[in-house]
Amino acid sequence: MKKIISLAAVLLIVFVVQAQQPLYKNAKATIEDRINDLLKRMTPLEKAGQLNQLNGGIFTGPAANDPGQLAKIEMVKEGKVGSFLNVTGANETRALQKVAVEQSRLGIPLLFAFDVIHGYKTIFPIPLAEACSWDITQIEKDAAIAAKESAAAGLHWTFAPMCDISNDPRWGRVMEGAGEDPFYGSIVAAARVRGLQGNLNDADHIMACVKHFAAYGAVQAGREYNTVDVSRVALWNKYLPPYYAAVKAGAATVMNAFNVFDGVPASGNKYLVHDILEKKWAFKGFVVSDWNSFDEMITHGYAANRKDAAYKALIAGSMMDMESKVVVDYLPELVKEGKISMQMVDDDVRRVLYYKFKLGLFDDPYKFSDATREKATEFTQANRNEARKAADASIVLLKNDHNVLPIDAASNPSIALIGYFAKSKADLFDFWIANGKAEDAISVLEGMKERFVHSNISYSDGYLPDGHTNNQLIEEAVANANNAAVVVVNIGLSGKLAGEDRSLANPVIPEGQVALLKALHATGKPIIAVVSAGRPLVLTAIQPYVHAIVYSWILGTETGHAVADVLSGDYNPSGKTVMSFPYAVGQIPVYYDHYNTGRPLPDSGDQNWKSRYRDIPNAPLYPFGFGLSYTHFNYNHLSLSNNTIAKGSPLQVTVQLTNTGQKAGYEVAQLYIRQMTASIVQPIKALKAFKRVYLQPGEVKTLQFTLTDKDFSFYDGEGNVHIEPGAFKVFVGGNSHDVLEKDFTLK
Ligand code: GLC
Repeated sequence: MKKIISLAAVLLIVFVVQAQQPLYKNAKATIEDRINDLLKRMTPLEKAGQLNQLNGGIFTGPAANDPGQLAKIEMVKEGKVGSFLNVTGANETRALQKVAVEQSRLGIPLLFAFDVIHGYKTIFPIPLAEACSWDITQIEKDAAIAAKESAAAGLHWTFAPMCDISNDPRWGRVMEGAGEDPFYGSIVAAARVRGLQGNLNDADHIMACVKHFAAYGAVQAGREYNTVDVSRVALWNKYLPPYYAAVKAGAATVMNAFNVFDGVPASGNKYLVHDILEKKWAFKGFVVSDWNSFDEMITHGYAANRKDAAYKALIAGSMMDMESKVVVDYLPELVKEGKISMQMVDDDVRRVLYYKFKLGLFDDPYKFSDATREKATEFTQANRNEARKAADASIVLLKNDHNVLPIDAASNPSIALIGYFAKSKADLFDFWIANGKAEDAISVLEGMKERFVHSNISYSDGYLPDGHTNNQLIEEAVANANNAAVVVVNIGLSGKLAGEDRSLANPVIPEGQVALLKALHATGKPIIAVVSAGRPLVLTAIQPYVHAIVYSWILGTETGHAVADVLSGDYNPSGKTVMSFPYAVGQIPVYYDHYNTGRPLPDSGDQNWKSRYRDIPNAPLYPFGFGLSYTHFNYNHLSLSNNTIAKGSPLQVTVQLTNTGQKAGYEVAQLYIRQMTASIVQPIKALKAFKRVYLQPGEVKTLQFTLTDKDFSFYDGEGNVHIEPGAFKVFVGGNSHDVLEKDFTLK
C-alpha cells in the first residue's frame, strides 16, 4: 500500500512540476510548439539577443577578470547573446553555457561556433589540396572526423565549407575552396556538409555554414576584400552552384560574403539573400554575417550609420550579426518604429531556436561539453591515419622526367634533403589551424628519416624562412648534394602565407629558391622539388632546374609521412589539380572552362589577329585536372550510345581505360562537354562527370558515364534553366587538355 501511495505521490509531483514547467522546457512537446511558446515569452531585446553572435576567447583563468570578457558575460545574463565564436573546449564551453542556462531569465542555451576549416585537432590537408584527391568518400570522412573532434570540444557549429569558386591564385583564400570548377566544387561542398552534419541528431556532428555568399572568390585582381563585379550570367553559372549544392545538402547556415554584388554589399543584398537563397532555393536555416560585415556596410557606403546597417541587413534577409552588435543595439528600436516587423524578427529567431532544439541543447545544454569524451576523441591514431590517407591522395605529381621518382628506399640511396620548410613545422600550417598544434605534425625531414631508415639523409636549410638565400646557404646545400645520390628540395611558401588577408601580387617561387635550384642543378644530380604552398604558384622559372615536381600544397599534421609515402612510391601519386597553374602572373586568371571568343588562337597556322599574348602562350603551365602517376593510363574506344539524343533521354558514354605501366594506381577519368551554339555562349569545356578508379598494371576497365538533361543545361542571368537543342562535343581524358572527343546532337 505504502508503495502505491509513494508512486502516486511521485507521479503527482512530476505532473505538478510539468504543469508548472513552461512548455518550451518540456522535452515531450514538439519543437514547433516549444519555439512558439518561447517566442511568446521573449522580449524584443531577448529576440535581438538570439541574432547576436560575439567573439569569445578564454572566459576562465586570467581572462575571467578582463573587463571586456565580464561585459560579455553580463550580456549573456541579460539574454543579449545567442552565440559565441572562438570559445572552445569542453570546460570552457560548459562554464559559459552554465551562465546562459542558469543565470539568464529564460535560460536559452548558446551556440558555440569555431572555424574548423580542415580539422580541429587532427589537421587535414587544406581544402584545396584535399579536393585534388577527387576522393569524395575521403573528403566526407575527413569532415566527419573534424566534426567529431569539434563536437567533443563543446562546439555546435563550424564556418565551413567555404564554397567560393576562384581561378585567381593571387587570392590567399583559394586554399579554403575546391578550385575553379563549379560542377566539382558543388560535389565537394555537398560532401563536406554531409560529413560535418550527418543528421545533426547526435553529439558527433555539428552545423555547417555555407560561405561566403556570394562570389567572394571573384575579388578583382585577387586582392583580399576587394570589389566583386561579375555578371549575373557568371553568378548563376560559375559562382552559385556550390552554394546551392551545399544548401540542398541540408546545410544549417549560410554566411554573408564581405564583398558587394551588383554594387550592394552581400550582407544587405536582397537579391542574393532574399530572392535567391530564401525564395528560389527555399533555404530554411539561418544566415549569419561575416565578421562585422553588417557594420562594414557603412564603410562600403551603403548604410548611413549602425542603425541603418542593422535595418538594411535585416530587411535583405540576413539574420545573425557576427561581432558588429548593430542588431542587438538597434533591433528593438527598429521594431518600435515599425521599420522592422516583429513577424520578420520572429521568423529569424525561430530559425536559430530551431537548431538549438534540434541539437538537444534545451534538454541537455552540456551534451557537447564533456571533458572525458573530449580527451578520448581528440587526435587519435585512427584520425591521424585518415589524415595521412587524405594527404597521400592530395599530392599532385606535376613532372617526373626520366622517372627519377619514386626513390628506391631498398637501395638505401644517400639523400640530400634541402629546404627550410622540410624541417619547420610551424610553416606546415595556415591560419585555420583551429586547435591543432604545429609541434604535433610530422615534418618532411622526420617523414623521410622514418621511411628511408637506412639512407644517409643530409639536411640543409638552403634558403631563409622568407625565401631569400645567400652564398653560404647555397654552398652548404651544394656540398650536401655532391655527396648524395638524389637531391630533394622542399621549396614554396609557408602555410602562413595561405588564407585570409594573404593576397599576393606575385604568386611565384621566391627568387632565392630559384637561385638555389640553379646551383643544385649544376651538380648534375637528380633534383626533385617538393613544392608546398596554399595555392598554385607560377613554376615556370624552376622548370629548367628540376627533374621532378611534387606539389604537396599544405598537408597539415601528416605532411612528412605523406611526402615520404609518395617519394618512396609507397603511395603512387594520384592527385589532379583543381586549379590551373599559370604560365606567368600576367596570365592570371587562367582557367580551363573559358569561352571561345571570336578569335580563338589556333594551335598552328596563322596566329595573327587572334586572342593571344605576344610574350607567353595562352595555355597554363599545367591545366585543370592534370596530375601524373608512377604508372601510365591509356584512354581509347570512346563511344556514345547515340549520336543524336532527344531531350529527356540519357546519353551513355563509354571509354576504355588501361594501366599500361608497371605500378598499380588510381586514375581520375574526367568527362567534359561543350555545347557548340547556344543563346548564351558556353565554355569550350565543362566538367560533367568523373570516376576515380584503381587499376593494376595491365588492367583494363570499361568506364560508363551517363549524361542527362541536367548536364546539358545552363542558366541565364535570372537563374532560369535553359536546355537548347544543337551540336555538342563530349571529351574524356585524364585532364582537361589531353582528351578523346566525340560529337553528338541534342534534338
Ligand atoms: C573571417 C572569415 C570567415 C570566418 C569568420 C569567423 O573574417 O571571412 O570565413 O568564418 O571571420 O572567423
